[in-house]
Amino acid sequence: MQSNHLKGLVETALPAIAAADAASLEELRVSLLGKNGNVTLLLKSLGGMDAEARKTAGAEINHAKMQITDALSARRAVLDSQALEQKLAAERIDVTQPPRPDSAGALHPLSRTQEELAAIFAAMGFAIAEGPDIESDWNNFSALNIPSHHPARAMMDTFYLTGDQVLRTHTSPVQIRTMLEWAKTEGLGESPAPIRIIVPGRTFRADHDATHSPMFHQCEGLVIGQGITLGHLKGCLIDFLRAYFGLPELPVRLRSSYFPFTEPSMEVDIGWNRKTGELGGGTDWLEIGGSGMVHPNVLANCGIDPRRFQGFAFGMGLERITMLKHGIADLRLFYESDVRWLRHYGASPLTPASLHEGL
Ligand code: DAH
Repeated sequence: MQSNHLKGLVETALPAIAAADAASLEELRVSLLGKNGNVTLLLKSLGGMDAEARKTAGAEINHAKMQITDALSARRAVLDSQALEQKLAAERIDVTQPPRPDSAGALHPLSRTQEELAAIFAAMGFAIAEGPDIESDWNNFSALNIPSHHPARAMMDTFYLTGDQVLRTHTSPVQIRTMLEWAKTEGLGESPAPIRIIVPGRTFRADHDATHSPMFHQCEGLVIGQGITLGHLKGCLIDFLRAYFGLPELPVRLRSSYFPFTEPSMEVDIGWNRKTGELGGGTDWLEIGGSGMVHPNVLANCGIDPRRFQGFAFGMGLERITMLKHGIADLRLFYESDVRWLRHYGASPLTPASLHEGL
């Protein structure tokens, strides 16, 4: 009687458990194994039996309890993994989705200009060199043939730091760093590979108005080797300027000037129309940088024999050429982080500067 009851209990319980959902599974557990559950009550009834009956009944009930417990946990495992599957499916993120257009960022026009310089000069065999914002007085001035009493120091409103350190007023000190390094290794060889670098980077002067910012950017250029002439300088600058502005006929003029670190020195001008602002047209000239043949004293200061090696250098303002190319009127807007301005003048980060189809 007792064992029939137990058998019936197990026979109904097992299929019910196997078909249960999460809620009814818990109900089944309580009704079978809970404090007043059917199996629990049967176990309690063992107390009223004589020893012999208790032995057989106890074994049967415990066996039934085990079958039910196993079935419950098997079903729970199935339900848990189904729930996980559903959750994963529901919360799946498609990482291949294209970005929404209104969330696309833009490259700052100065970053774009630096990428363009890198692309153009890389095609001419130049590498990129860098130096620190904080420079020694010697790298920034003395080694560049600007001794401390020299009036050229007054031309630059220098931020002086403690000791003999300054915020670099131009990218020219990276010429010194590069030549010193080269003189120690490559420059000692029989047929050394030439220096060909550009140095885009931050520069600082105590100056602030619509066309000057205390922090601005320059790009330096330096070529040192054997048999380097002013003709190389001229060809290099003309090719660069025409490629950068996208004007194959852009007039370029080298105008005699003075810089302590070059001899001879030349200002670099491009042709434009002052009235319309149009580049390449008209009869006016616009200065965009300085250049010259590296002064023998500068070579000697870096341990390079000026009778064996010579070269040229140039430097230009990056804000200047960027403003000209994109028709940007006010320099200060470069640093205001106005996202509307950035959207208008910024470049797509997904189309990198390359010379394949022009810049
Ligand atoms: N360093 C100069 C300046 O900031 C620019 C310059 C002129 C750089 C002539 C050069 C150069 O390399 O040859 O005003």
